[in-house]
Amino acid sequence: MKAVVFDADDRFTLADIDEPAPAGGQVAIRVDYAGIQYGDVLVRNGHFPVPRPFVPGFEASGHVIAVGEGVDAGRIGQRVTALTSAGAYAQVVVAPDLLTFDSAGVDPRTAAGFGWVTPTAYDLINTVSRVRPGESVLIHAAAGGVGTLAAQFAKAAGAARIVGVVGDTAQAEYATQFGYDLLVPREDFPGTLADEQFDVVLDPIGGPTRLASLERLAPHGRLAIYGNIATFEPVEINTNDLLMNGKSALTYNSNLLSQTHPERLADSATTALRLLADHTVRVDVTAEYEMSDLDAAIQRLAEGGTHGKSIVRIA
Ligand SMILES: NC(=O)c1ccc[n+]([C@@H]2O[C@H](COP(=O)([O-])OP(=O)(O)OC[C@H]3O[C@@H](n4cnc5c(N)ncnc54)[C@H](OP(=O)(O)O)[C@@H]3O)[C@@H](O)[C@H]2O)c1
Repeated sequence: MKAVVFDADDRFTLADIDEPAPAGGQVAIRVDYAGIQYGDVLVRNGHFPVPRPFVPGFEASGHVIAVGEGVDAGRIGQRVTALTSAGAYAQVVVAPDLLTFDSAGVDPRTAAGFGWVTPTAYDLINTVSRVRPGESVLIHAAAGGVGTLAAQFAKAAGAARIVGVVGDTAQAEYATQFGYDLLVPREDFPGTLADEQFDVVLDPIGGPTRLASLERLAPHGRLAIYGNIATFEPVEINTNDLLMNGKSALTYNSNLLSQTHPERLADSATTALRLLADHTVRVDVTAEYEMSDLDAAIQRLAEGGTHGKSIVRIA
């Protein structure tokens, strides 16, 4: 089969390799589309060490062609979207049965875009920061995959005010369609917000932005930390100050959750997929690439300025 391989020279190249077979508890999927996500940038940049050669790709849509031991053979033929630990940039990928979801009613491009970003955005709003009706939410990287979905889930949870931070005015213009009340260019954060405070801040950025976000929390506010796009430099937080001001710093790691409590991730993904199928939320696929263009696609994501979700056509 054809697959994209991340080679010893840190390049993504097309290769012919053997099809994987599903082990116990796994399904094999013939892939239609794979989603591109920020994790691909982290792999490329060495933040997630991987063996070489490595077939990357962490999310795929397609249909089940085989099942491993212990998996219901009735799944064969089912149209699905799957969360994988590798291998989705290939014609066939294996995925855990538990993290492979029936995608009936969702077109294959959108089903690939669902990926990790949709359950992550759902969890950040509903199970991590637990946004209550009437609360205010500040979302960094607001025009990206997680950001555009988090705004929609926050709206669905009854948030009264949703503010996004984006790279530039073009990103702001794009992101208005997802329910933001205000979009702020990154260079104007936090100054332009005067003394506004938020009940919840979603932070995938890190560094000084993390500390500035903490400053912006209202009493009993929650900072949900889930990435380090700008920097991996450690950020020191004084927990005594948090206590005195009634603020909380929370973290979310869906990759770890998939290993320790896959059934919890599956619950959130199932709910998020239902909300996608009934059009409560929308995944906006804005770019489609060929397998041979993956290097360029990942570089674009790394540079910023992309919005919504990018996918790769496999079939
Ligand atoms: N913890 C988890 O479980 C989990 C799960 C999924 C994703 N994530 C994390 O969530 C984040 C977003 O992922 P995604 O796939 O949805 O990517 P994305 O938002 O589609 O792309 C990243 C965005 O980050 C912004 N950006 C780039 N460089 C930046 C910088 N130096 N400072 C501030 N913003 C910058 C860009 O927005 P502008 O163009 O507007 O600048 C870009 O669109 C990533 O950090 C990813 O690792 C975490």
